[in-house]
Amino acid sequence: MKGKNCLIFGGSGQIGRHLIRKLTKNDYKVTVVTRNIHQKGHIIKTQGNAGYIDIVESNIFNEAKIKSLFERADICINLVGILYEKKTSSFKNIHTIFPSLLAKLSKQNNLRHLIHLSALGINEAIDSDYAKSKLEGEKELLKNFSLTTILRPSVVYSIDDNFTTNFMTLLNRLPVFPLYYNGQTKFMPIHSSDLVDIIYNIISKNINSHIIECVGNETLTLKEIIEKLLNLIDKRRILLPVPLFFGKLSAKFFQLFPKPLITEDQLRLLKYNNIVSGKYKTNSDIGFPAKCLFEKEVEKYCYMWREGGQFSKKNVSK
Ligand SMILES: NC(=O)c1ccc[n+]([C@@H]2O[C@H](COP(=O)([O-])OP(=O)(O)OC[C@H]3O[C@@H](n4cnc5c(N)ncnc54)[C@H](OP(=O)(O)O)[C@@H]3O)[C@@H](O)[C@H]2O)c1
Repeated sequence: MKGKNCLIFGGSGQIGRHLIRKLTKNDYKVTVVTRNIHQKGHIIKTQGNAGYIDIVESNIFNEAKIKSLFERADICINLVGILYEKKTSSFKNIHTIFPSLLAKLSKQNNLRHLIHLSALGINEAIDSDYAKSKLEGEKELLKNFSLTTILRPSVVYSIDDNFTTNFMTLLNRLPVFPLYYNGQTKFMPIHSSDLVDIIYNIISKNINSHIIECVGNETLTLKEIIEKLLNLIDKRRILLPVPLFFGKLSAKFFQLFPKPLITEDQLRLLKYNNIVSGKYKTNSDIGFPAKCLFEKEVEKYCYMWREGGQFSKKNVSK
């Protein structure tokens, strides 16, 4: 029997939107829980054909409300995550306590599978509160529901991301771009479409593997990523290595803003390479290597940040 009803938390986000499209196109019905149906309803609703998507507005910790959703679900997918803490949401609540609630409800309702999005490199980043809370969340899941698959992606990019698009906006506006740790931190960026293909295959082929590291085909330093983006948007900028002391000072300042550019915790995280560990299976090991190449994909949407926008001349040097 094929599991058809997917209960998704965090479905209005970058990965969620791509995943809803993939699942509904392939005949899966999805129920998406959001905190604010007024803000997110139209975003979620337009990702699939009529009849395939139900939206439920709820606080994710309202156990009485979300409990009933599990009774109708075959599979639960958790995409809720935060990059910085707020007064109302801590790393512990979002990355540790919430996943353990999902594991409990999945077990009580005999779900076929619980897919949880964690993050790459969290074993290594021992002094990051983000990484520690993600790691604790993974432990809770594996302890409480054996049919859990944890995906640990490197940084995820696509036309609607908060990564390449934010960088291109900053590179457009700033004459000088700061590089923390000399820009030498390594990443293996994976495209959203490759990541949701992996999730789809795991669900449809019922693959059970506890932890899977999900990465693209290229290993790029942050400096190389920035240089590629500059080349794509046809801009010249000074890339300025920032001494750690000033890095910490600027992060202290930026984290005072409601949507900080960088926080002290993110700065600590940036110290560690975001690449496969060699200790866990990767998406290639389970038969789903990434297909997209970073520069080729970003080239498809970077014109919006070039002089002249859609009328700009393609003048990208390789
Ligand atoms: N994108 C990446 O580069 C990347 C890399 C590694 C790991 N991941 C992990 O993959 C997962 C999905 O990533 P994403 O980029 O798609 O996430 P996202 O766009 O930042 O957010 C996903 C959703 O989580 C919900 N959410 C956010 N803050 C919340 C809070 N305080 N309380 C309850 N719900 C909250 C929101 O849904 P509503 O507003 O609808 O409630 C939001 O749309 C996350 O766990 C993330 O840590 C992402």
